[in-house]
Amino acid sequence: MSESLAIVAGIIFVTVAAVNVIVMLEASQHGVQIPYGCRQGLCGTRATRVLSGTVRMDTEDGLTAEQKNAGYVLPCVGRAEGAVVVAA
Ligand code: FES
Repeated sequence: MSESLAIVAGIIFVTVAAVNVIVMLEASQHGVQIPYGCRQGLCGTRATRVLSGTVRMDTEDGLTAEQKNAGYVLPCVGRAEGAVVVAA
């Protein structure tokens, strides 16, 4: 699988196939700019829902408990573990 993006009903779906890459940086390489603030996983700017695959977080201090339970990650510090799809 290669990286791709699709836009459905105003939501951008980004597929990242590279392993151990920061999701936000990989999306940027493919033309999807995910808004950010601190880039350290602290401010919670643009928490993003993982639709498939696994994203490992370097830190998740910027997420609420509800966001964690709902499958959100912080693309600024989230690393893809295999192919992932996120709604940016
Ligand atoms: S930019 Fe602050 S948590 Fe991602």
